[in-house]
Amino acid sequence: MADGDLSNSVGRAIGLHRAGRLNEAADVYRQVLALQPDHVDANYLFGMLCFQQRELEPALSHVAESVRLAPANATFVTDLGRIQKARGDLIEAIATLERAVDLDPQSAAAWVALGDARNARDSRDAAVDAYRKAIDLAPDLAMAHNNLGVALKALRQFEPAIEAFQRAIALRSEYVDAWLNLVNTIENLEDHAVAMSALNQAVEMAPDSLDIRIRIAYQLFHAERFEESLAQCEMALAQSQQNAELFHVRGLSLQSLGRVGDAVESYLAALAIDDGDPHIHSNLGTALRNAGDVPAAIASFQKALQINPEFEKALFNLGVAQQEIGSFTEAVSSLEAALAIDPEYGEAYRRLAVVYYAMDDGAGAVAVLRRWLERDPDSAVARHLLRAHTEPDSEQRAEDDYIRQEFDAFAESFNRTLERLEYRGPELVAQLLAAELPGEAADLVVLDAGCGTGLCAAVLRGYARRLVGVDLSAGMVKQAQQRNLYDELVVAELLDFMGRSATGFDLILCTDTLVYFGSLTQVMQSFAAALQPSGCLAFTLEELQPGDAEPLRLNAHGRYSHSAAYVAAEVEAAGLELVTMQHQTLRIELNKPVRGLLVLARQAESPGPGDGEPSR
Ligand SMILES: C[S@@+](CC[C@H](N)C(=O)[O-])C[C@H]1O[C@@H](n2cnc3c(N)ncnc32)[C@H](O)[C@@H]1O
Repeated sequence: MADGDLSNSVGRAIGLHRAGRLNEAADVYRQVLALQPDHVDANYLFGMLCFQQRELEPALSHVAESVRLAPANATFVTDLGRIQKARGDLIEAIATLERAVDLDPQSAAAWVALGDARNARDSRDAAVDAYRKAIDLAPDLAMAHNNLGVALKALRQFEPAIEAFQRAIALRSEYVDAWLNLVNTIENLEDHAVAMSALNQAVEMAPDSLDIRIRIAYQLFHAERFEESLAQCEMALAQSQQNAELFHVRGLSLQSLGRVGDAVESYLAALAIDDGDPHIHSNLGTALRNAGDVPAAIASFQKALQINPEFEKALFNLGVAQQEIGSFTEAVSSLEAALAIDPEYGEAYRRLAVVYYAMDDGAGAVAVLRRWLERDPDSAVARHLLRAHTEPDSEQRAEDDYIRQEFDAFAESFNRTLERLEYRGPELVAQLLAAELPGEAADLVVLDAGCGTGLCAAVLRGYARRLVGVDLSAGMVKQAQQRNLYDELVVAELLDFMGRSATGFDLILCTDTLVYFGSLTQVMQSFAAALQPSGCLAFTLEELQPGDAEPLRLNAHGRYSHSAAYVAAEVEAAGLELVTMQHQTLRIELNKPVRGLLVLARQAESPGPGDGEPSR
């Protein structure tokens, strides 16, 4: 074939290539190269066609050949560097791309490619320099701004990263990757409202982007808007049933809505698409554990750990599940493995102490709590639990910080957990009030003291003209708010609240809260002072074993138990009349019933000066 014929063939191949008829174009390039193996353009173009088809080996050899034949061509050298990067040869790629920018310092494309290779090698600062050069040369190159943002984000420079993504989007509004990067970076700032508004804009720009819908679902999930998150997932499922991440976030939302069986199915659907994500296995394990299938949960956590042995959350979950079935030695080693990876992992110390306690190894538990406190001297939880293990005679009320940390963290899962523990507080209160306050008339002023998430609110509402709840944990109060059953909810320490002259209550209820008080003297006096004449106080407590001689004890789990005699004495010392004291099972813990006291007392004295509407 003559030179002119070869040129024609290359021209034809380029036409086919541009028209997307890649296989035909490849055939023509091959014919040309068979006749003239050192045809520069045919080598370069065929190499790039292979690159386009992710065939990296032929791509590398043909583009390298074009560079050998035309070493001063900056475009060829740049593309060779890109291919080397795609093959993971990062050091070579960086050297090649540095040669490319030397050959043509005005090539923005070469600077971006150099930035990408440096970025991939975690040379973030050098990557930022390269992207900035590209942007100086071509300020409208959206990709340069986006990739600059990626490098800045990796450097944890979130604000400038956000600006870079925003500039990329301003240049190309439907740049889905830039939107996703923007949202991910905003998520790093943990500002859900800003992230949501960026996502809402993004979905307007790119309504068909499944990725953006999934991010929205995640964002709603993190903002604890589970129903809305689920609705986004269902919309996205109408678009595609083949996305593992989508089934994953759907599972998370279902799980948070307490639909454990549906969550399990959703995780299984995710794993049927991609079984390589350890997070999905771990979350499946948690759902299975919640569904009561602990052996299957253990298998899921182990699967997660096969994929990523350093996955400390899966190690923790595994330890919890092993403890649950009495495999204490295994639980200790799982939890220690989690702590070896993350020595700041507070929950792992705590659980480890529980396991030692379950093994009757009090010294082991104390040693773990001391280790925790050494790591985190500000941990009120570690401090409280250490006191619980070492000073059972303490009468001191649990520190406010302990209550806040404990219940803020617990708030979201509290209702589900208590359901699992078969918590009977509301049912017992309903029975007690029905027996002792006949003729429900909804005309009382009622205080729910330590209201938590408001589990007793529905019962109290039936008696209340006005229902006030008070609790130290803002997280718990937020949950209570969602019930829309209280007239007023106050975040405050109970004694402070009562001390601020809260008076005039017809009924005060305090369930499962005096277990954090130790001595009852002050709190009983406060209740007595806050009650109307003939007003009632109802409360529950955990009961000391009848054989125990002491009045109260701080237990290793951090809650107090009180003796019936001590409770009766404190009620009376506060000037209240004990109406009834019942021995009841409050809930089930570690498969054993928790014995408790259900008490009703009445204001016996004549009205004090605080008689009237509650005032604070
Ligand atoms: C186990 S929850 C019980 C919640 C609710 N009464 C129930 O029966 O579901 C205990 C609650 O008491 C609150 N609490 C404990 N000590 C408190 C204190 N000194 N002042 C106010 N709230 C307190 C906690 O924040 C938590 O919400």
